Amino acid sequence: MAIDAVEVQSAMPNHRSKTIHVTVNGVPRESHVEARTLLVSYLREHLKLTGTHIGCDTGHCGACTVLVDGTPVKSCMFLAVQSDGSEVRSVEGLETGGKLHPVQEGFHKEHGLQCGYCTPGMMMTSVALLAANPNPTEDEIRRGISGNLCRCTGYVNIVKAIQSAAKEMAAAPKGGP
Ligand code: FES
Ligand code: FES
Repeated sequence: MAIDAVEVQSAMPNHRSKTIHVTVNGVPRESHVEARTLLVSYLREHLKLTGTHIGCDTGHCGACTVLVDGTPVKSCMFLAVQSDGSEVRSVEGLETGGKLHPVQEGFHKEHGLQCGYCTPGMMMTSVALLAANPNPTEDEIRRGISGNLCRCTGYVNIVKAIQSAAKEMAAAPKGGP
């Protein structure tokens, strides 16, 4: 006997959507997303966190970088369902209690941006870089941000911004950002 594909489909659970539990910038979220939803779309469209930018949409530019459990990921290449059970941090989660993160301060102080399009992703990569290596050399900084493209600045002030953040973080009491 032939099996009716429609009947089989309707009898099966819907594999095209899933409920995920994600902590985003410290806020626990329960969301129902389609399996194909990208993390960047989840953040921008479901949660209205539009600080994360979409540049190339192909994993090359890094504009969409966010942290998943502390690791920088290009959220245009990462499904929202892959973040189930994780902590996601986007640029909106850098400021705490009205105080900018040292990386944000560094970009501000050293003018590490021009158009600002790459900046949220660049800052998230910088946060992860400084967490792994609190006192990076210029070469290490340049290597660390090599997955994030900036078409405006020539990178000089971005490097200075990260160096400034490293200094501020080293001087801050333990338990800071
Ligand atoms: S938008 Fe994701 S890497 Fe360019
Ligand atoms: S500041 Fe314009 S792309 Fe980096």
